[in-house]
Amino acid sequence: MDTLLLARLQFATTTSIHFLFVVVTLGLVTLLVGMQTAWVLTGNPKWERLTRFWGQLYVINYVLGIATGIVMEFQFGLNWSGLSRYVGNVFGAPLAIETLVAFFLESTFLGMWIFGWHRLRKGAHLALLWGVALTAYASAFWIMVANSWLQHPVGYEVRDGIAHLTDFGALLTNPSLGMAFGHVVSAGLLVGGMLMAAVSAWHLIRRTPDFALFRTSLRIGLVTAALAITMVQGFGFAQFGPVGSVQPTKFGGDSPEARALIAEWTTRFGPGDYTPPVLSSVGLGFMILIGFTLGCVWLLLPLLFRDWIIRLRFPLWLVLLAVPLPFVAVILGWIAREVGRQPWVAYGLLPTDQAVSPVGAPVMLASLIGFSLLLGTLAVTNWVLLARHAGRGAADPALGRPPAAPGEPAHPEPALA
Ligand code: HEM
Repeated sequence: MDTLLLARLQFATTTSIHFLFVVVTLGLVTLLVGMQTAWVLTGNPKWERLTRFWGQLYVINYVLGIATGIVMEFQFGLNWSGLSRYVGNVFGAPLAIETLVAFFLESTFLGMWIFGWHRLRKGAHLALLWGVALTAYASAFWIMVANSWLQHPVGYEVRDGIAHLTDFGALLTNPSLGMAFGHVVSAGLLVGGMLMAAVSAWHLIRRTPDFALFRTSLRIGLVTAALAITMVQGFGFAQFGPVGSVQPTKFGGDSPEARALIAEWTTRFGPGDYTPPVLSSVGLGFMILIGFTLGCVWLLLPLLFRDWIIRLRFPLWLVLLAVPLPFVAVILGWIAREVGRQPWVAYGLLPTDQAVSPVGAPVMLASLIGFSLLLGTLAVTNWVLLARHAGRGAADPALGRPPAAPGEPAHPEPALA
């Protein structure tokens, strides 16, 4: 295998695994904000219990997700020096903002939220969670700004063989950005909603003593998933407009615009294969199929608002079995967007084979194996921990546990409600 293919495989593996964590984080934090806000506004302890239970799962996913992000940045720096050199002046700004926002601000807010239970006033504690959520969305936005620039470079000029940013506003009004951002954020909400519904369904299937609590989170999860899948579909179809106008060669487009663009590239960059691999269209097709399948969540909605149907268990199994689907769709969507841009790393500007670092194939293979094992281990650890903590139920999560009164043991046996 050649170095380029190995580098691309490494990018695909690390980014896809990292992305799985990101969508869970984005989805769950939004739901957590809703639940904690409900607690502060109503004082109903049910919302506190829900916030603690789902907050604990959120924190596990966040911590391991940050670790996968660091591995991803390593491979980015190691393997794509041509990209850094050529477009670093443009691309660096949004990525630097993302790092500052995601790693510093978001983590600081989260740390204060975790340790602020029973120490801060309720309003201040809630404001921290809002801060976590807003910085998470800001971070996703800046990543999409950078990615959209690669899809459709704007607001730059090339001087001395290097791209320089000339118009920061153009980064923000990039036609590749708006609908794609809406699509990804809705996909995150869908993942969060489905995950919440599935974990709740599992507890209801097992006849949990916390029936009322998990019935509430089942309903929140399903309503979120139903609204989110509609947004996913809306933003998804809306994306075909910008894709068609700024990337005519994507998804097997054989339009006059695509042919004219390929003729222009052949003149500028020499003859070559300028059509993206068919894999991107396959990814697109299956993603849309999953999108329509998940639309059926609207049919489950009225059913699961009746207790006797919940007790039947069968619809709950459907919810549980459907939970991998949004994750698969997220990866397929990412493949469609990234592979569909080939053979460019920055569309029409920098060919992917000129962006890769001058590294030998054996070294690239070694780092591919190393990073894949590391990320795979982090992903498996995450899911084992999530399953274990989710399975324990909401009786007494460690997150937000009240401090022991003088003379009491620090960790009393959890009392089942
Ligand atoms: C009717 C359903 C859907 C349609 C019409 C649709 C449409 C699209 C299109 C056209 C793209 C490519 C955009 C580009 O290349 O610039 C895309 C990408 C993507 N899709 Fe979908 N999609 C659908 C369902 C889903 C579902 C169910 C998910 C996940 C839960 C999902 C997640 C993604 C992701 C993560 C991307 C790549 C990131 C991005 O767009 O910026 N999509 N989708």
